[in-house]
Amino acid sequence: MRVLVVGGGGREHALVWKLAQTGTVGGLFCAPGNAGTAALGTNVDIAATDVGGLRDFAVREGIGLTVVGPEDPLVAGIGDAFAAAGLRLFGPSRQAARLEGSKAFAKEFMARHGIPTAPFEVFDDAARARDYIRARPGPVVVKADGLAAGKGAFVCSTTEEALQAVTDLMERGMLGVAGRTVVVEDRLEGEELSVLALCDGESFMLLPPARDHKRAFDGDAGPNTGGMGAFAPVPLPPGLLEEVRDRVIAPAVRGMAREGCPYRGILYAGLMLTRDGPAVLEFNCRFGDPETQVILPLLDEDLAELLAAAASDRLPARPLRLHNRYAVCVVVASGGYPGPYRRGLPIAGLERAAEVPGVVIFEAGTACDAGGRLVTSGGRVLGVTGCGRSLAEARERAYRACARISFEGMHYRRDIAAPAGGAPGGNA
Ligand code: AMP
Ligand code: GLY
Repeated sequence: MRVLVVGGGGREHALVWKLAQTGTVGGLFCAPGNAGTAALGTNVDIAATDVGGLRDFAVREGIGLTVVGPEDPLVAGIGDAFAAAGLRLFGPSRQAARLEGSKAFAKEFMARHGIPTAPFEVFDDAARARDYIRARPGPVVVKADGLAAGKGAFVCSTTEEALQAVTDLMERGMLGVAGRTVVVEDRLEGEELSVLALCDGESFMLLPPARDHKRAFDGDAGPNTGGMGAFAPVPLPPGLLEEVRDRVIAPAVRGMAREGCPYRGILYAGLMLTRDGPAVLEFNCRFGDPETQVILPLLDEDLAELLAAAASDRLPARPLRLHNRYAVCVVVASGGYPGPYRRGLPIAGLERAAEVPGVVIFEAGTACDAGGRLVTSGGRVLGVTGCGRSLAEARERAYRACARISFEGMHYRRDIAAPAGGAPGGNA
């Protein structure tokens, strides 16, 4: 089977890496890809958002399975365009991708199906949003309805901050049309958890639970980023994952089917583990980044076979086969990220870093310069994943590899997967 992966970040390198290990794949393409995917398959110079261009390529090349990384093409309807051309694609239809593409749709869907989530209201009128915020007893989160590349949620501590967010989104057009409608919801407290499920429209298989570290600096300080690291599986109290399965994933998959848009693809539930139980912060319609960089190394499966089965409505009725190990991914970022940063800086030490046992390095913002040198080309440059028999071993390996890498201005968090209260960078 010839396989096309759409996207060009660390998540897509991890997908290509896992797909390249299977006997099923007889040709592997990545559009647009990065320096890491080029080493395992063929990069194709088509943007991830060029739905027509991707479809034409897939037809011409006889692609048997297309796997979509980022949300934009899914929300724009790449699933429908491929289906109309008779092509098999792993990912939801445009209607089903509304679970990520519209926060108002997602919240109202959860309310209809009794899926636990923070109390909320949807507004397209700023004055009414302000009245609601003033009347809430505690702090709120103001969210742009549409896609905002991770910048659409304003987690507010005071009423003033929330009112400002309404002004910025609804009146100043800070995020354009994405913020014309907002969701205002109560702010929840707790630890976050990412639970991803592989869905075929009717049934699903749970992937190992992961935790993402979104803030830029140690101790969860600094601004939100695309994700500075992740680990999996997250040790959870007995019964919690089953609760998420029964109260969140199962009713969501059933609810989408009942509403006439069966969900095929990855259903990603971003959860807050509150004192009253798990509550959904958001749904995403795709693999997480960097969660994928720790989830895929745990799978003892032929990924191509599994994704093709999901795309064809016939997932096997059994749990996923897993390696008995843990994975920790440390994201190595450009100096200044998530603010402005320089590109084109030479990266040294990757080969020596990859020699650490159990380590695999996923490239994200990398490129080859004219002289063939590997250089930085984005904010999140590398995802250094360490695997081991314990979280502590996986962590130690990931950090040992990071210490062998260097480029000007590079920074990474020292407390990814650190035990609660543990010393940053120390061994668990
Ligand atoms: P979202 O785009 O909805 O996932 O929000 C991005 C991030 O904002 C989440 O990963 C959380 O860290 C935070 N967040 C979102 N909703 C809430 C909430 N209701 N309470 C507290 N934090 C939240
Ligand atoms: N790691 C967060 C996301 O993929 O949305």
